[in-house]
Amino acid sequence: MTIDEFFTISSLTTKVVASINAYKEAKTDLSRREALQNATSLVRALENPADAIYKLFASPSVLMAVKTANDLGIFNVLSESTSFVTPEKLAVQKNADIQLVERIMRVLVCNGFAGELGPGQYEPTHLSRQMTERKTIGTMDSLYVFCLAVHSRSNSQFRFVDFLPIIQKTPEFFQKSGYKNPGDPKDGPLQHAYNTSGSCWDWLAENPKALDRFNTFMEGSRDEIAHWADWFPVKERLLDASLDGRPLLVDVGGNRGHELVGFKNRFPLGAGKLVLEDLPTVIEDIQTLDSDIERVKHDFFSPQPVKGARAYYFKHIMHDWSDDNCRVILNHTIAAMERGYSKILIEDYIVPDQNAGVKETLIDMVVMVWCPGIERTRQQWTDLLQSVGLTIGNFWLRDEHNKGIIEAELQ
Ligand SMILES: C[S@@+](CC[C@H](N)C(=O)[O-])C[C@H]1O[C@@H](n2cnc3c(N)ncnc32)[C@H](O)[C@@H]1O
Repeated sequence: MTIDEFFTISSLTTKVVASINAYKEAKTDLSRREALQNATSLVRALENPADAIYKLFASPSVLMAVKTANDLGIFNVLSESTSFVTPEKLAVQKNADIQLVERIMRVLVCNGFAGELGPGQYEPTHLSRQMTERKTIGTMDSLYVFCLAVHSRSNSQFRFVDFLPIIQKTPEFFQKSGYKNPGDPKDGPLQHAYNTSGSCWDWLAENPKALDRFNTFMEGSRDEIAHWADWFPVKERLLDASLDGRPLLVDVGGNRGHELVGFKNRFPLGAGKLVLEDLPTVIEDIQTLDSDIERVKHDFFSPQPVKGARAYYFKHIMHDWSDDNCRVILNHTIAAMERGYSKILIEDYIVPDQNAGVKETLIDMVVMVWCPGIERTRQQWTDLLQSVGLTIGNFWLRDEHNKGIIEAELQ
């Protein structure tokens, strides 16, 4: 290591210590994330490039080991234990080979998914406990084992495949497609990987188990920031106008209605004010939902049936679609809006022009291979919304998170 490199490391160390002290004082999520960012820079400075590249090359194995541990029931056993757990006990549920369990446990311990008191003596960590949460399991299953049903016309049977092969096949898709930015919902990396012509939504509709995993993933993937009704000025921007019997909020593509339930818990307005819209298969998949929330089976590529609502809310919808497809969805919404009264609220990432964060850059890759969609910058949002005659009232961001709400109205 050169003198300069040592100097960099010691100045980063000073920054880490200062930001950890600031976090201790402030105890805010923002200060925690700043400390984490500084600590990550320090780790990168210390890491030998060859080690970093090797880690990247082998990192899919971590996903595999965590998923296998999940299938073996290891996280539940760890979390329920009052003392250390042996490999023998962890192997019992699936009658697994002890040596296999030991090898999987080594990966888990290295990556913080379990602790090790002594050789073969495992204990839970906060990560292993988190792995027992229903919504975390949905996230793992959706992103890792995104089992997609591929209809085989020859024998009319369903074959199950994983999500990761799409990632694996994406460079090949780009070579074939001449490095065009994917945008066609029926011709992207997913269709290339599985040699099919259906959209991802068609596949989910064909496979109720995959649909259940995806919807559980939807419920669970939004814990990073507080519910929008906690930080968006609902009273000033939505409840300020008279509803005259009209709905307050239409959650378009609202999945199982989790966002509306969260909204109702904060603003209990009674029946008829909150409307949930999604595809028929998704609405039919809902097990329980507050009876005040109206359910509507609706394809957002067709005219919006609920007219003159105060707000049409789209969470993680636009990021699934190309600009051309978003314009179709927006134009159907615009046709239902009342000028000077109705609003569009879009909750999505607003990618910074420089130094975009890990989450939005990786989710950008996920939506690119899956839908294919895109995470947009502030300028891209402005161009898109202006192109259909909408004007942006504000980009509402929470604590410098790069996810927020874009509030728009008719020009
Ligand atoms: C990424 S998920 C977002 C779900 C929800 N808004 C959230 O953030 O939790 C996209 C949603 O759009 C729905 N969707 C996809 N195509 C649709 C269409 N043509 N019409 C209505 N909903 C659709 C899916 O079923 C899914 O619930």
